[in-house]
Amino acid sequence: MSSKVALLNRITTYIVNRKGKQMRPMFVFLVAKMVSNDEVNERTYRGASVIELIHTATLVHDDVVDDSNRRRGFFSVNALWKNKIAVLIGDFLLSKGLLLSIDNNDFDLLKIISIAVREMSEGELLQIEKARKLDITEDIYYEIIRQKTATLIAACCSLGAASVKPESTHVETMRKFGELIGMAFQIKDDLFDYGDTKIGKPTGIDIKEQKMTLPLIYVLNQASKEDKKWLINSIKNHNKDTKRVKEVIAFVKNNGGLDYAVEKMKQFQSEALQILNTYPSSKYKDSLELMVNYVIDRKK
Ligand code: IPE
Ligand code: IPE
Ligand code: MG
Ligand code: MG
Repeated sequence: MSSKVALLNRITTYIVNRKGKQMRPMFVFLVAKMVSNDEVNERTYRGASVIELIHTATLVHDDVVDDSNRRRGFFSVNALWKNKIAVLIGDFLLSKGLLLSIDNNDFDLLKIISIAVREMSEGELLQIEKARKLDITEDIYYEIIRQKTATLIAACCSLGAASVKPESTHVETMRKFGELIGMAFQIKDDLFDYGDTKIGKPTGIDIKEQKMTLPLIYVLNQASKEDKKWLINSIKNHNKDTKRVKEVIAFVKNNGGLDYAVEKMKQFQSEALQILNTYPSSKYKDSLELMVNYVIDRKK
């Protein structure tokens, strides 16, 4: 990671010292081990590293996009060094990740990763488009979270398989497995925004950013004409008014928005487990099952 530019070194050190859960590399390793019976290789290690680098790059950019000042329990890069620098740091991390694949001729893995990066950008942009028009449906919500979050976890699982069994059917089966996990993962993340537990990043900011997630979409679809008008007006014109945002959050909670999202999250979880259950028993399969359940039960 080191560079001749002192500022860059300072910031990458700051980032590297604040690690996240590192779930994505865990998916890469566990899938690779499950499909190969513990024969992971250098490609698996590089793939896992590339994915975590790219994930970190997208978080640095996402905090600029969401104007968020906390990440992993500390200040975000944009909070400490401003947007200009955060944009460039994100690009640096992204290119470092891609080069790790290129320099080692892991072109099949690079393709999986590049597709995920393209889809994540599209997902974030689709989300902005919908936040501007406030016309999101449940299906569009699923499309947004599939692109912005699920594709990277899908890439973890397909890359894990491809690193040990290139061109096998595992690559596509594991992609689907990861995609389902990713859907549940983002619904959980969106539920955190409605809570007040300490998760190392701000809560209650989605409505401020006019980001409509599953609990709110469900409640909007169920609400009377009057309530719907009040909700839309709150999000459109009073999204920076803390008291009003709290009222919207309370309305969503009181009208079953969170319960509905939990139910949908569990559906994705159970579909993921169904795919996993087509594999023979092994300790790696057991660990993957624990990981899938952790996505749903995690506290941050
Ligand atoms: C956060 O991902 C970004 C989302 C897709 C919701 P994680 O919750 O995996 O972030 P870290 O790496 O553990 O901080
Ligand atoms: C997920 O979006 C992050 C990316 C896909 C890059 P969010 O904006 O919902 O994630 P958090 O809550 O900031 O981690
Ligand atoms: Mg975001
Ligand atoms: Mg964000």
